Amino acid sequence: MSTQNSNIPSSAGNSGKAPGEAVGIAILGHGTVGREVLRLMEEHRDALEHRIGGPIEVRGVAVSDKEKHRGSVPEELLTDDAMTLIQRDDIDLVVEVIGGIDYPRRLLLTALQAGKSVVTANKALVAAHADELAEAADRANVDLYFEAAVAAAIPVVGMLRRSLAGDQIELVSGIVNGTTNFILDAMDSTGASYDDMLKEAMALGYAEADPTADVEGHDAASKAAILASLAFHTRVNYDDVYCEGISHITAEDIAAAKAAGQTIKLLAICQRISDESGQEYVSARVHPTLISRDHPLASVDKSYNAVFVEAEAAGRLMFYGNGAGGDPTASAVLGDIVGAARNKVHGGRAPGENTYANLPVADFGQVPTRYHIDMEVVDKVGVLAELATFFAERGISLRTVRQEERGGHARLIVVTHTALEADLAQCVERLKESTSVKAVKSVLRLYSE
Ligand code: HSE
Repeated sequence: MSTQNSNIPSSAGNSGKAPGEAVGIAILGHGTVGREVLRLMEEHRDALEHRIGGPIEVRGVAVSDKEKHRGSVPEELLTDDAMTLIQRDDIDLVVEVIGGIDYPRRLLLTALQAGKSVVTANKALVAAHADELAEAADRANVDLYFEAAVAAAIPVVGMLRRSLAGDQIELVSGIVNGTTNFILDAMDSTGASYDDMLKEAMALGYAEADPTADVEGHDAASKAAILASLAFHTRVNYDDVYCEGISHITAEDIAAAKAAGQTIKLLAICQRISDESGQEYVSARVHPTLISRDHPLASVDKSYNAVFVEAEAAGRLMFYGNGAGGDPTASAVLGDIVGAARNKVHGGRAPGENTYANLPVADFGQVPTRYHIDMEVVDKVGVLAELATFFAERGISLRTVRQEERGGHARLIVVTHTALEADLAQCVERLKESTSVKAVKSVLRLYSE
């Protein structure tokens, strides 16, 4: 039973509903995901009511162009005025599937301030503005859910928020972008070039017309920020994530990886690290990574996603599935709708974000990494010794050094032990300046847990 103050709209807060009173829902956006959410809500109306413990009712669908959606949404629900819709007294829950950052940010802050719970699939928004959204949800005592923002229906947000809430997480790493995994997997299995496989990804509809956010790692970096924040109870924003994409990966890199029993994956790696004094840091990064073909992440093919977790008590876990697309994303949104609506019906809130640990985010230069450096060098006495000093001067230990003949030059492949990223990067700059090095062909980081 509601115990609300008469000055507060009946939809405000999560203080419970009268028996049989429906939870009013506003859906912002009617694209691939929005359409599927609406369809599934209609198709499974009775089941959802049982799971929630009360009825739900879509009371408005906001779109930018009503003409485009006329006929596919009941006329009385269709509006192009999202701001008015979300503030209506008969709306309890706002579902955002529009995308973008500034406009949905204004809408969702307004909705939260008005006491509406929010479900969003918007990774870029959550990765950039989680703090103010979470604070607004806390102040209004409502829910902020975003399972669909990371890897669609693979339940990684719920896993970190609830299932592993009692454990100490050391590492969350994963393939969280399907487009780039499709491209790298296709390059690996066919030997084709990056450009050809990008074209194929676009033709198959995996990559967007402008694939930059996928191939340059920005989409994965947003997801890494969200995962790291949840795993380490520390706010990590998109700007805190080191981000390098896959557009420089060549067929030669892939072939060399294959020959060495490895493959290249675009990984998001979120890690708890400690310096020599024992100070703990959080690191979040996205970059192409050489990984042994024996590792479970290496076998994730096509456009699939997978998230690998290491926690103190739980040990190693892996979550795998479709990380994108209308149906899987709608599944995650619906799961959140059920959770948020349940709390509107019965009162109370889901576990929110907790950033109590507030660990510093490590500067990328201070993160331990390992390099695989492939270069063409002058084939004469003393070159190997000269180049080895560049590593030694920076305290970098070499794991393997392999030399091969390549068209009149010597090809030198150096794999280092773990060292600080800044020292490794400086060493590569020094190699590039040396007259003994004709070309640094590629520099890749290796996966190490
Ligand atoms: N474009 C993303 C991908 C899906 O390729 O995985 C949405 O984040």
